[in-house]
Amino acid sequence: MTFDPAYAPIFPRTTAVRDGRLSIAGCDAQELTREFGSPLYVFDEVELRTTCREYVQAFTSRYADTEITYASKAYLSRFMASVARDEGIGLDIVSGGEFAIAMAAGFPAERCHFHGNNKGEAELRETIGAGIGRIIVDNFYELEAVDRIAAALGRVQAIVLRLSPGVDAHTHAKTTTGTLDTKFGLPISTGAAEQAVADAQRLKHVDLVGLHCHLGSPLFDIEPYDEANAVMLPFAAEMVRKHGMRLREYSPGGGFAAQYVRERPAPPVDVYAEAIVSSFKRRCAEQGLPLPHLFVEPGRSLVARAGVALYTVGASKRVEGLRTWVSVDGGMADNIRPAIYDAQYEAVVVNRADDEPTETVTIAGKYCESGDLLVKDAHLPPTQPGDVIALPASGAYCLTMASNYNMALKPAVVAAKDGRARLVRRRETYADLLATDMWDASQNQERGT
Ligand SMILES: Cc1ncc(COP(=O)(O)O)c(C=O)c1O
Repeated sequence: MTFDPAYAPIFPRTTAVRDGRLSIAGCDAQELTREFGSPLYVFDEVELRTTCREYVQAFTSRYADTEITYASKAYLSRFMASVARDEGIGLDIVSGGEFAIAMAAGFPAERCHFHGNNKGEAELRETIGAGIGRIIVDNFYELEAVDRIAAALGRVQAIVLRLSPGVDAHTHAKTTTGTLDTKFGLPISTGAAEQAVADAQRLKHVDLVGLHCHLGSPLFDIEPYDEANAVMLPFAAEMVRKHGMRLREYSPGGGFAAQYVRERPAPPVDVYAEAIVSSFKRRCAEQGLPLPHLFVEPGRSLVARAGVALYTVGASKRVEGLRTWVSVDGGMADNIRPAIYDAQYEAVVVNRADDEPTETVTIAGKYCESGDLLVKDAHLPPTQPGDVIALPASGAYCLTMASNYNMALKPAVVAAKDGRARLVRRRETYADLLATDMWDASQNQERGT
């Protein structure tokens, strides 16, 4: 048995198997866990940069005035922000915390777009004060707040209105965002979007530069992008006529799928780019709209494949006639996606990568929830304690959703390139857990309560 080539699109392109051992970017995966601890997240830097370039190329070759704005909620660190900066990609941020990381990496504030349905006053002050490029305004409360804060800072803030076009993107109920019944955006069908355009046009300290929508994620079908454009661009044309709005920028959001398992390939970047750009050009032409600057916001698809999670096997349990459980040293505290979205992953034993997968097992995490599973039906060779299991396509929405549940220590993250791995984030320690716990137990007045 040799390593199944069907894994190739899920692992970074530098992944190799020699003598049954899997390596990423020239680094032996099991050795990495010995050096940096387990669990461990490994990012392949070349894979990351290659994907950024594929995005830029796929869109700008079809429409030069396109900007890729990476949705950093998928994964953010100073390392990631600096890769985005080097690759000429903007950042979509959704909190003061994400903005702070971007700034700490020397990312230009004017290339950041601030999203979210309930931005705080302090967050708005910080970002507007620092010269953020765009605030993607989600509701009336925010429109007023941005105008007021920009006025106090003596600025005019460029804004884009996030609209909900009423399009069902046929994805998981928890990740669909373009329908009427969602917390995100100003609905077009109720008249709220038009009211917001009219209000924004009157306000003195906001400059309404464009419109935005995001349908949800991941979208394996490309049709919803055209369905959204078919609602958004006629609406834009109407706003130009009725309220003198100038559509200088437009975004159909992100939501591009990533491949997680062998049987479910994601559409290539070129397929999304072709569908979005051709529909956008056609719908603008139909409405007589001059083509605006286009920004697209890939999140998961930009980082998922570059990241591989590594876990070490501990206990196993066979329930005869039912299931074999293989427990690893991580789980829902570092990857909650299987627990909340039934997300699926593949698993490969990195130190037995050429061994025949003879067993179907459930890979369980170590945390105190029976829903703490990583892979329900993994096909593995027989495993031993100490074996290391890789979950490919773990670059997106794992680390950024990680928690300290059960006082778990968040794992280390390394960036691997040319046989060398550098620390991006050290593994947490017990001292980190205590760093924000301010209670001095020796001062308790009442004992025994
Ligand atoms: C406004 C916006 N843009 C882009 C994205 C990125 O989606 P994905 O990671 O699926 O590409 C999200 C995800 O939540 C989003 O809310």
